[in-house]
Amino acid sequence: MASKLGSEMPAQRMVSPSGDDEERQFETALRPTRLDDFAGQPHVREQLAISIEAARKRGEAMDHVLLCGPPGLGKTTLAGIIAQEMGVPLDQTAGPVLQKKLDLTGILTSVARNQVFFIDEIHRLLPDIEETLYSALEDFRLDILIGAGPGARTHSMSLPRFTVVGATTRQGLLSAPLRSRFGIVLRLDPYDEATLGKIVERSAGLLGVPITADASLEIARRGRGTPRIANRLLRRVRDYAQVRADGHIDLKVAKAALDLLKVDCYGLDETDQKIMLTICEKYGGGPVGLSTIAASIDEQSDTIEEVYEPYLMQLGFLDRTPRGRVATQRAFDYFKIARRRFGTDQNPLF
Ligand SMILES: Nc1ncnc2c1ncn2[C@@H]1O[C@H](COP(=O)(O)OP(=O)(O)OP(=O)(O)O)[C@@H](O)[C@H]1O
Ligand SMILES: [Mg+2]
Repeated sequence: MASKLGSEMPAQRMVSPSGDDEERQFETALRPTRLDDFAGQPHVREQLAISIEAARKRGEAMDHVLLCGPPGLGKTTLAGIIAQEMGVPLDQTAGPVLQKKLDLTGILTSVARNQVFFIDEIHRLLPDIEETLYSALEDFRLDILIGAGPGARTHSMSLPRFTVVGATTRQGLLSAPLRSRFGIVLRLDPYDEATLGKIVERSAGLLGVPITADASLEIARRGRGTPRIANRLLRRVRDYAQVRADGHIDLKVAKAALDLLKVDCYGLDETDQKIMLTICEKYGGGPVGLSTIAASIDEQSDTIEEVYEPYLMQLGFLDRTPRGRVATQRAFDYFKIARRRFGTDQNPLF
């Protein structure tokens, strides 16, 4: 399956291999290659559809695109889709892989007209590499230093027009000059249950696993609003269904498998739980400042804000107010904590 879908992808040079091989193969096999197969994120799809069609009609490269959002929501997938829909090759690399200016100039000097150059984790580019990228992004020029010492000269080379697609989970860490060079900035949000259910159904179809609609929804519910997590859960449930049942996934099988895996019924992970318990238990439900929460759980403020909070807010567990973060009654109900009254000590957890 992986190779079949893989072969439909545009010519692709992998500049930086990364991650676990088996996991990557699985993700590739389930990765939509056309915009129509990309579920949810309607505003992102609409904006991309328009920009792609316009660029194609003009026969030009599309504007540079910056994709922001928590891990596993489809940024890499969209980079592939953009290249596929534009009918152009895709090169990819990642911020931490580019260690020397030469690494970047090497790639840019062989860039083809209108092609897509995907830079993952773009917030992790080293400063001098980021600066080299500025003129490539803005003027399609590359300044190369020739020679060394006093006799060194800078040669300015012109590049064909091409599209950089940058992805980041940490938009807050991106410098303003870099951000401003992207004509299209798109933010991905966690998926709702119904959309994630459709993604699980599609993935099951690709894997050849029979699944009922309510079982897909059950897996989706525990997928933390994230296709990558939902797909991983599906894989584990499939194993369970093959060993403990007849290979079919119905609601009963899905529930039994997920319970065995001890997946929280909202798919909350350890950090989600720590954040909510800190606000509820330690700060009586808030309001409490982001930096205070960060210090309490030993996590960075912007990671909490950009990676964890979107899903907690989507669940209706957390509100952002001008005075700080506040846990909702729904969160208290879920964590079964009595709201502590300020100045009293009624909460048995204290
Ligand atoms: N909208 C979607 N429809 C169907 N499948 C999706 C969608 N979004 C993501 N997926 C699937 O979820 C998996 C993870 O997606 P992807 O690798 O694109 O996430 P990402 O945002 O790049 O994550 P990271 O920030 O960790 O790099 C892939 O297998 C992909 O096929
Ligand atoms: Mg990615």
